Amino acid sequence: MLKQEYFTDSPRETIELGKRIGKRLRGGEIIAFLGGLGSGKTTITRGIVTGMGLSDMVTSPTFAIVNEYREEGRLFVCHFDMYRLCSDELEDIGFFDYLDGGGVIIIEWSENITDLLSRLDNVIYIEIKRLSEDKRQFIIEDRSGGGRLDNLGD
Ligand SMILES: Nc1ncnc2c1ncn2[C@@H]1O[C@H](COP(=O)(O)OP(=O)(O)OP(=O)(O)O)[C@@H](O)[C@H]1O
Ligand SMILES: [Mg+2]
Repeated sequence: MLKQEYFTDSPRETIELGKRIGKRLRGGEIIAFLGGLGSGKTTITRGIVTGMGLSDMVTSPTFAIVNEYREEGRLFVCHFDMYRLCSDELEDIGFFDYLDGGGVIIIEWSENITDLLSRLDNVIYIEIKRLSEDKRQFIIEDRSGGGRLDNLGD
């Protein structure tokens, strides 16, 4: 199954969806968010990170560009914000070294590097639509192979 969609009615439900995603990750995946300001990218990332068994220390990487979450014996996460970047600048921030690291890469504002992402395997696209103040639609397109995110509701 290539595309799946889910709806949430609160940040809490979004975090729960993120946890279910995080539990399925095995390392090497690139999660690319599509969706504008305040759609819920950082919120679902909190769920993904806790679902991976890491402490919930997630903050927006807006100013740092990348935040890393690493704990002994766990898969690590590199959480990027590409809001102020474009593909040409990825080399400068060491993005390609992170790709080979074996962790999970999470990217907010992946719209800014679509050309690069289209050339990579292992990308899981998560498009978020803001349907109302509290309602969100998540459209997940798992191109990482292996169907790890199939039937997240189960
Ligand atoms: N169902 C929902 N899922 C996620 N967030 C929700 C939901 N309903 C309301 N919200 C609110 O929407 C906001 C989402 O903020 P968040 O920082 O996660 O967005 P973002 O996509 O990372 O934004 P930015 O582009 O600024 O980085 C929060 O204020 C949250 O409380
Ligand atoms: Mg954010």
